[in-house]
Amino acid sequence: MGTTDRWYQNATFYAVDVEAFADGDGDGIGDFRGLIERLDYLSGLGIDCVWLLPFYPSPNRDNGYDVADYYGVDDRHGTLGDFVEFVREADRRGIRVVVDLVVNHTSDQHPWFRRAREDPDSKYRDYYVWVDDPPEWPDPHRGPVFPGEEDAVWSYDEVAEAFYYHRFYHFQPDLNTANPDVREEIRKIMGFWLQLGVSGFRVDAATLLIDNKGGLESTELDDPHGVLRDMRRFVERRGDDAVLLAEADDDPEKLASYFGEGDEMNLLFNFLLDAYLVGALATERADPLREVLDLLPEIPEEGQWANFLRNYDELNVGRLPADLRRAVFDAFAPDEAMRIYGRGIRRRLAPMLASASGRDATGGASDAPDADRDRIELAYSLLFSLPGAPLIVYGDEIGMGEDLSLPGRNAVRTPMQWSDEENGGFSTADPEDLVRPVISGGEYGYESVNVADQRGDPDSLLAWFSRLIRARKECPEIGNGDLSVFETADPAVFAHGMVGDGSAVVAVHNLGDAATDATLRLDGDPVGLFGPNEGGEFEAVGEGEWRFELDRYGYRWVRVNES
Ligand code: NOJ
Repeated sequence: MGTTDRWYQNATFYAVDVEAFADGDGDGIGDFRGLIERLDYLSGLGIDCVWLLPFYPSPNRDNGYDVADYYGVDDRHGTLGDFVEFVREADRRGIRVVVDLVVNHTSDQHPWFRRAREDPDSKYRDYYVWVDDPPEWPDPHRGPVFPGEEDAVWSYDEVAEAFYYHRFYHFQPDLNTANPDVREEIRKIMGFWLQLGVSGFRVDAATLLIDNKGGLESTELDDPHGVLRDMRRFVERRGDDAVLLAEADDDPEKLASYFGEGDEMNLLFNFLLDAYLVGALATERADPLREVLDLLPEIPEEGQWANFLRNYDELNVGRLPADLRRAVFDAFAPDEAMRIYGRGIRRRLAPMLASASGRDATGGASDAPDADRDRIELAYSLLFSLPGAPLIVYGDEIGMGEDLSLPGRNAVRTPMQWSDEENGGFSTADPEDLVRPVISGGEYGYESVNVADQRGDPDSLLAWFSRLIRARKECPEIGNGDLSVFETADPAVFAHGMVGDGSAVVAVHNLGDAATDATLRLDGDPVGLFGPNEGGEFEAVGEGEWRFELDRYGYRWVRVNES
């Protein structure tokens, strides 16, 4: 497969939670009908691939990550027929669909678990991990993933009269991936959705999927990465050019292993880059970025990073050195209520960046107009120019805010704001019946932040995002080229090149609040590609030397053709 065949290396991904995106039947809950009606919007924006968060039948106690049936669509979101229509309509617009594959655990309401608890002789008993006496705990590496919400990884089941293992919530029993029958089930699930036309899977909790569950001898995998290789082999066989995109927030030295020799995951969410990039934004210095680019491993030719700033969970800064972590918390989550699990921030990007420039979370008066807008542009321009494929979470393209009055991670999961009509145009239901309240009032309320207003305004953030996505499409070097980082005099400036065959994209970013410039030595004459203003802003100052003028939080991308 040549690089041009690897669609995912230069794709722009867009994360959608069906329940919060668009309600087509007026019951207050987002559904596939609503999503289909919004496909033209995604197409206009330039999205290449939609990642759907879980929409499967579920008691919905962890936003659908507690799956009760792997082969269906939850009634609240429509039918399997609606799903197929959606995939077809997306395909007509050249948009691919990747779905969440949540097979580290099931819901405790899944028929497998019900059978497992009720009948010790059922084959389903060994689908899960049971002990009579939980082993010594805490094991620092195998504690609850959601501290404060769960305090153990073993829970007693009255019916089974035994303890079962769960790294997430107690209602999410871990599957025993050392059991070949479970591995067969995983293949069958993937086969089903591939047959319905998906372009791959976002592999939930990939680190835990291959972990020695409960630290038991009986669940130890001879070849942990064999689980992932198996999956990849199957997807290649059945899925043509379908891919696996893994959630593997692991130690830097372990990250490369998830790509294998190019025979495991195609893409990995770049959690490390996210944390350090936010560190660079918080400190207004480029060195965290230089550090993380050194920390990130080489990846095989077939691999790619999926780069993101925010997703639908907490922003995890737990892997940052203590001083940088503190700087991020101080700048972007000054109140305890904005933090979660001791490691994360439960905020959307726009208010996060604005709070550090003197605004409060809910908006209010600001004496630094557009401070947030400049910084959002800087942040996303950087993200899109760094090696990898970019991902946006729905709503970030219009600068949506969070609702800190909602519990936990739900703060960032409010409905999409389509217009200034009631419920932000998300639904025609009674506001009381909405799956979650729409943000209303203040600087981030749907009355002032919505798609309809921004669509017709060439200066809007939404219009800027379309231009950014278009610019990214024009730069395959970013997905496939080799990175080189320039030395710069000002510590607030980060300048890098992505070098392809005979051409390079060079991007210069000013992380600081003060205007500055940067002089770079280039191997050819630059041509402007993307920046806050059209044209200008760089000039020749010597043999092969070019000076870039940068406003506060300014940025510029240029193409350099080999001279
Ligand atoms: C990762 C998901 O992103 C998160 O939302 C969920 O709670 C856990 N996996 C458990 O499935």
